Amino acid sequence: MLHLDLSPAQSFLAPGYHDQCKDKLAQAHQWLQTATGLGNDFVGWVHLPVEYDKEEFARIQAAAKKIQAQSKALVVIGIGGSYLGARAVIEVLKSPNYNALPKDTPDIYFAGNGLSSDALQEIVTMIGDRDFSVNIISKSGTTTEPAVAFRVFKDMLEKKYGKDGARERIYATTDAARGALKGLADKEGYEEFVVPDDVGGRFSVLTAVGLLPIAVAGIDIEALMAGAAAQRQECIDQPDASASAQYAAARHALFESGKSVEILAGFEPSFRFFGEWWKQLFGESEGKEGKGLFPASVDFTADLHSMGQYIQQGQRLMLETVVRFEKPLTEVAIPNDPDNVDGLNFLTGKTLSYVNEQAIRGTRLAHVDGGVPNIVITLPRRDEDSIGRLIYFFEYACGLSGHLLGVNPFDQPGVEAYKKNMFALLGKPGYEDQKAALEARLK
Ligand code: PA5
Repeated sequence: MLHLDLSPAQSFLAPGYHDQCKDKLAQAHQWLQTATGLGNDFVGWVHLPVEYDKEEFARIQAAAKKIQAQSKALVVIGIGGSYLGARAVIEVLKSPNYNALPKDTPDIYFAGNGLSSDALQEIVTMIGDRDFSVNIISKSGTTTEPAVAFRVFKDMLEKKYGKDGARERIYATTDAARGALKGLADKEGYEEFVVPDDVGGRFSVLTAVGLLPIAVAGIDIEALMAGAAAQRQECIDQPDASASAQYAAARHALFESGKSVEILAGFEPSFRFFGEWWKQLFGESEGKEGKGLFPASVDFTADLHSMGQYIQQGQRLMLETVVRFEKPLTEVAIPNDPDNVDGLNFLTGKTLSYVNEQAIRGTRLAHVDGGVPNIVITLPRRDEDSIGRLIYFFEYACGLSGHLLGVNPFDQPGVEAYKKNMFALLGKPGYEDQKAALEARLK
């Protein structure tokens, strides 16, 4: 079960705030359920946890097994919505140190999520002469970052295994019918998986986009979907009182009362990348028309020793959403020190998770005292069920929240601006006029 606690935010919320937006919530819920609101072409994710393509799901599981048997490493090439979900789930359910830990599944490297030649070369070096496969994920197939990286790894595969051997190791996740990658995959005979037309990148983690890499890491994708399906049911059963609806209403009220930044805080280092996924989800969905909470994320307790100062006493512009897991996967007991040099012998025999829990409790009180409303989301443990629920909880809350804000939560017109400039500066045919103007401005 996912549990939402709004009580540490209550003193910052006006009485009746939830009732005031009940009608809007009901309307937003209706729009999402029936695909009739703004951005209605992109709400395929709403029913995905139960209405997914079962035949493709079985192919994903089979392909994951084949990659596990054939390869010591998988290079996952994609950016933004075609990358963050898979990495978030693998890190939170396995570890940020997944590649370094003992395991019987392939190492997973994420490429094509930037333009750093050093980062790309490092992946080539880490693969070395080991057997590897590639999952290229791009709806369009023309996004510069993944397209350039794919050229490099495709070339490596073809040199190592020949064209026929490479074909057996390349998996293309792309549009069902259109696009450059679709054309190439058809021509070369790669195994293909689909980015559904009605699911935008940031909502695509529970499609083949996320599921294939996640399954290769040995994560039970059926249990992940089941967790998401359970959370979806709660959203359907309680249109204005589900955890997602309550969260959307509270953060909207806090935004209206002047908060402009929401920080997502975790107390597990493995949660860090989930924060990256969450930032894209809310940032791209709400940050438009001059509106939207700015989504940031922090990794506690580490960031309490850096950002903690600002959160406690800087500009009073934040609300904080904390995700905590009731039980760790392992327990570490604190040993006794006969000299007690650090004065911490009162903790002897206590577990680290007990100390972490007191840090969570103490931080919450301190931040609330410092004027930072807290919202606390509790999950039993870091497992597939919990993470499936958490993904859907945030996705649905994001859809509702975008509608409360009055924006289209499912488009992202702003991301084109840098691309146009970059293409012009790179000399892409058709951009000649812009190039001269941009170069003049950069002088
Ligand atoms: O959410 C989005 O739409 C973006 O983050 C895209 O997923 C990202 O730009 C990658 O696009 P594509 O899958 O076409 O390569």
